[in-house]
Parts: sequence; structure tokens; C-alpha cells
Amino acid sequence: MITFTDVTKTYADGTMALEGINFDVKEGELFTLIGPSGCGKTTTMKMINRLIEPTEGTILIHNKPINEYNIHELRWNIGYVLQEIALFPHMTIEENISVVPEMKKWKRKDLSKRIDELMDMVGLDPEKHRKRKPSELSGGQQQRVGVIRALAADPDIILMDEPFSALDPISREQLQKDIRDLQQKIQKTIVFVTHDMDEAMALGDRVCLMKEGKIVQLDTPQNLILKPANDFVKDFIGERKSPWQTAVDVIMDQTRSQIYTESDWNSSAILKVGTYALQDEQGEYAGLIHEGERVDAPAIENSSTLKKAMDIFEEQPYPILPVIKENQLIGTISYKDIALYLKSQVKEQNGVMNT
Ligand SMILES: Nc1ncnc2c1ncn2[C@@H]1O[C@H](COP(=O)(O)OP(=O)(O)O)[C@@H](O)[C@H]1O
Ligand SMILES: [Mg+2]
Repeated sequence: MITFTDVTKTYADGTMALEGINFDVKEGELFTLIGPSGCGKTTTMKMINRLIEPTEGTILIHNKPINEYNIHELRWNIGYVLQEIALFPHMTIEENISVVPEMKKWKRKDLSKRIDELMDMVGLDPEKHRKRKPSELSGGQQQRVGVIRALAADPDIILMDEPFSALDPISREQLQKDIRDLQQKIQKTIVFVTHDMDEAMALGDRVCLMKEGKIVQLDTPQNLILKPANDFVKDFIGERKSPWQTAVDVIMDQTRSQIYTESDWNSSAILKVGTYALQDEQGEYAGLIHEGERVDAPAIENSSTLKKAMDIFEEQPYPILPVIKENQLIGTISYKDIALYLKSQVKEQNGVMNT
């Protein structure tokens, strides 16, 4: 949906910020750009809404070159959240959220309803906060307003440039969770810049790791961990706070080899030994089969951490956990998968697990 082809950027002073950038962000994808400071993340992002023009190459949105769009329409259809909390200080929260919808000439009534909806969505009580000024909110609350302001006029694309890096770890984690939930609900295309590998891995459907103006590896979090392209990628992955914070869907079995349907269970003798997850006709999780018995056992959300998975394993006797996403059974994770993964993440040089 956002297609970069051979994009190069040389700034006026001769700085070569980007060299031969190629990628295609898919519709509804959360695409993270990560890499060390100065590698070209912000330059890449600002090209999408034409705050910066490429020196060479083409950028398409919905298969149309971006300079063929009316620039105002282009920008109104792209929400933008900056690192520094950039609310207008003299305006109330509702006025801040209303800026783009008003430019798009939304009706008062629709807008008012939208503001309630958005504030509710990120846990800000509209009654209480609508009329406040930004300075009367905490940093975390202000950045939430920054996020919903970007969503207000229902843009197709949302750009976020290190939106949470100025926040304390708790607000940050809460907002990461909000963004992940939001993404599942609203299915927007989001390009998210960060220099924090934990954040990139937790949020991204795909992660684009950059270095010195080039893409080093563009892949799923799972492949970055399991098949790093080179030592730079390995080192960057190693920066994470702890492998225990990895999301379960990064290492779960995606082949569905442990998943069967109710009719398999009724008709087949294969399920007498071992443990399997059952899926009903709606694709929802419907219990485990363990050693030939059907049992009730908990499932885990795809974005939960390995730590949480281990906590559940400790409380129940079964060797696999079904993984669900938006009520759909999408895979299974085993005790053994987690053990092998953690072992692979042990820092070789000192033999000490980085927990
Ligand atoms: N307006 C500018 N003029 C000259 N060089 C710039 C300008 N903006 C950014 N750069 C340089 O381009 C490179 C990429 O910058 P940027 O995209 O901001 O990196 P990141 O966001 O990954 O930290 C850096 O070397 C930076 O110093
Ligand atoms: Mg930047």
C-alpha cells in the first residue's frame, strides 16, 4: 500500500541519508522502522507525507505516486504522531482533537460523538478531560491525546515517530498495549519508528532494521530472532531487555500441526496420544485433547509474553498452550519451544541468562 522503490535522499549539505530503499507496507500492517540514531528512520517517515522529498526513486500510496495527490488531502489522510508531545498548549483537549476533522469540514455532531469515542478508546473520561488544557494532563495522557488526534479524521495511514520515547516505562508499556489493541480493532496501516528493539518486536507485524541509510533486514519478529541476516542484526536483537518479554506469537508453532477440528476428534483415532488444541467451526479455541481425553485448559493471547506463558504452564499439567488472536485459534506454543528459545538467547560469552 505504501511502496518505496529505489528511494535515495541526499540533503543539501551532501549528507546521504538514504540509499536504495525498497519496501512495501501492506494494508492494515503495523510496520516498524528501527535502527541506530541517524540511520534514516525519520527521513523515511517524513517522505510518506511529503515533509521531505526524495532525491531519487518513487513512492506510491495505493499504487499512485504521492506527488499526484493534492498535498492537503494527502496529509489529512495520514495521521502523524511526533516524539515530542506536540499538542497546542492554549487549546483544550477537544479542540486539539478537532483540528483535522474541522479542516475536513466534519459536522459538529459527528465530531462530538467521535471525540467521545476516541477518548473512551484510550481510557480518558470525556466528561472529565474534554475541556482541560494539555498542561492539566500527565505526560502519558497527553501522548494518548496525541495518538487519538492522529486518528480523529479517520486517516488510512498513521505515522508514529518514536511516540513513546519521552514517557516513563509504565505509561510506555500501557500505550504500546493500547496501540496493539487499537491496531487489531481499527486495522489501520501504521508505520512506527522506534530505536527500542523490545518495542519494535512487541508491536511490529514486520520490522525493518536500518543502518546508515540502508535496510539491513526486513522481516517478521520471528525471523529476525531465528534467522538474523548478519551480526549487526544479532547484536541489535541482543539489545532487548530480556527474552522473557518476547511475545508468544514470535516463537509459537504457526504450522498448526497441533490443531485439529471437532470432526477430526469425533472421527479419528490419531488423537489418543499426545496433546492437541481443538478448534470449532468458527475458528475459535474449543479445548485441549490430552492423552485421548477432552479437557478444559486455558489459552493465551498472541501478544502475551513468554513470562506469562510460563506462569500459565506452572499452573496446569498440559505441555502445550493454545494461542489466540481476536478470538481465533492461530497456533500453539509448547513448554519445550520456550525452553529451546531461551537457551538460544543465552549470552554465549558468559553463559549467564539475560533475564
Ligand atoms: N535537514 C537535514 N540536513 C542535513 N542532514 C540531515 C537533515 N536531516 C537529517 N539529516 C541527516 O540525515 C541522516 C538521517 O537522519 P534521520 O532520518 O533523522 O535519522 P534517524 O531518524 O534514524 O535518527 C543523519 O545523518 C542526519 O544527521
Ligand atoms: Mg528520528
